Amino acid sequence: MTTSVAIAFGPSSKLGKVAAVDTSRVLVAVENPGLLPQAAVGSLCAIQGHTAHEFLIGMTERVTRQLREQTAQPDPMSPTALAVEIVPDDAIRVVLLGTYRTVDGSARNRFKRGADSFPQIDRECFLIEGGNLQHFMNLLGKDLAEDQRLELGNFAIDASATAIANGDRFFQRHAAILGSTGSGKSYAVSLILERSHARRHANIVVFDMHGEYASLARPDLADCKNPKPAIASGFKIAGPGDLENPSEQALFLPYWLLNREEMLSMILDRSDQNAPNQASRFTLHTRALKSAKLDAERKQDVKATFTVDSPIPYELSALIGLLKEDDTSKGVGVKGGAVKGEWEGRLTRLISRLEAKAEDRRYGFMFKPPGAALQYDWLAKQVGKLLAPGHGKPGIKVVDFSEVPSDVLPVVTGVFARLLYDVQFWMQAEKRTPFVFVCDEAHLYLPTTDNADAVERQALYAFERIAKEGRKYGVALLVVSQRPSDVSRTILSQCNNFLILRLTNDQDQNVVRRLMPDSLAGVLDGLPLLDTGEAVLLGDAILLPARIKLRVPSITPISATRNFWTEWGDKEADPNAVGMAVETLRRQSRVLGVGK
Ligand SMILES: Nc1ncnc2c1ncn2[C@@H]1O[C@H](COP(=O)(O)OP(=O)(O)OP(=O)(O)O)[C@@H](O)[C@H]1O
Ligand SMILES: [Mg+2]
Repeated sequence: MTTSVAIAFGPSSKLGKVAAVDTSRVLVAVENPGLLPQAAVGSLCAIQGHTAHEFLIGMTERVTRQLREQTAQPDPMSPTALAVEIVPDDAIRVVLLGTYRTVDGSARNRFKRGADSFPQIDRECFLIEGGNLQHFMNLLGKDLAEDQRLELGNFAIDASATAIANGDRFFQRHAAILGSTGSGKSYAVSLILERSHARRHANIVVFDMHGEYASLARPDLADCKNPKPAIASGFKIAGPGDLENPSEQALFLPYWLLNREEMLSMILDRSDQNAPNQASRFTLHTRALKSAKLDAERKQDVKATFTVDSPIPYELSALIGLLKEDDTSKGVGVKGGAVKGEWEGRLTRLISRLEAKAEDRRYGFMFKPPGAALQYDWLAKQVGKLLAPGHGKPGIKVVDFSEVPSDVLPVVTGVFARLLYDVQFWMQAEKRTPFVFVCDEAHLYLPTTDNADAVERQALYAFERIAKEGRKYGVALLVVSQRPSDVSRTILSQCNNFLILRLTNDQDQNVVRRLMPDSLAGVLDGLPLLDTGEAVLLGDAILLPARIKLRVPSITPISATRNFWTEWGDKEADPNAVGMAVETLRRQSRVLGVGK
């Protein structure tokens, strides 16, 4: 593609000359101090390259002004008196990011990432401003095909140019949205979902920890004047109120979906001296029960190769029955009399932990699934609802996890993600539609390994596997967090694109810095000062790292920042609401299951 408008630099935009080069950093001695105010940190410069058609594009990283003493021109009237004058000594440090060519073979006006050469000393440096800046910023999204465009907002340095990322690249190798609380992450997620919805077969599963995205499935819940059509379907992990008459939206993750390690991480106390016995009896019985189910279903082909980890339904009560039998059976002594049984009394604690979990209604989504969830073909239907909802149904699925107890949140998200990933893994390659997991509030269930417990480790394992090998099977993560320093490094370091909003905490900034190449350190300096909804986008989805003002999505998430001061002026606390909330707290289930 070509454009007729070339970028041309006149004397008025000449900033100065190259004074020193250090790998990708260039020191420019400023000769035109009038331009300095516009050359602030984050602005773009072009340095004359090898040929007249080539410019190296860089971003200002540092501006220094100082006064220097120098010997003045000798006065012809008194040539022996050496006067000293004070002159300004201005310099900017530029980090090279790309190469722009006005003519490149048969193409014109091409920009590519990376500097192809090093600038030579004394080469001219121009500030890209005004009309040039507009042309240049528009050039960045120009080569993107219509169906690859992911439009996010406008560039901060030139509000008239639209910031467009490459939608394929953005998701291909995982992305992260990071920023302090209230910086605009949830809005950014809604915006990305809205853009994805424009693709006819978008396939996204959103892990919604606070019921914030319920508005995407029910726009009447959002704070907007004219409700828009829904762009997502809403699901929720069944809460204590959904167990009797579960709706279509209630999702169950029956215990039999958990693999051996996941199940044991929940019910086994590793410090118990009987733990190895308990684990081995659990494994033996589960396998036997699964095998019996396969016999009953006449699935001999599956039976030939299944393992204890295969998701095959069995009755929990049958498992408890078998474990109890072990726990109480006497052994037979040499003389035929009863002696202490091999497993007698050794499984008591395992059984009581399992029973306690099975009785707790908060774990109902796992241990009290509806009868239908024990049928052999239930799993395919359930996964189908999420991965292939069928014609006319939205491809974006928002799953509300807000009623899941925090101690099992990691295992639930982990099992959920692993299950969908495994199905995609075993699907015929040519039949796969790629899909993305949006992991909102990722620090809650993807913690750093140092402080992860057994349950969290299982979940981490599932997500880390997706982070490492998901690309090959068309599964990507969009990690969203306000505490990047608490999120698994393995996962963050696999992300190739970052949308970083205001980030005030030092530790978090350091984590982000360590994830970026050193040359971009300057770009990240402004993070604490970003306005709400402003972000730095870095990664292979965009040609130049850029600060952008994100657009507000048309359906906003239910996450509005409250106006304390204003509301204290006109909103009285309601005692009835407190009474109702106390009842909801006791029920552990919100009316209608909506997070509002
Ligand atoms: N692009 C934007 N333009 C203008 N205002 C915005 C934008 N994005 C967010 N906001 C404002 O900021 C508020 C908080 O945004 P949001 O809920 O997305 O924050 P968050 O980063 O998800 O916070 P948390 O980490 O607490 O979930 C919103 O209620 C909205 O008023
Ligand atoms: Mg949020």
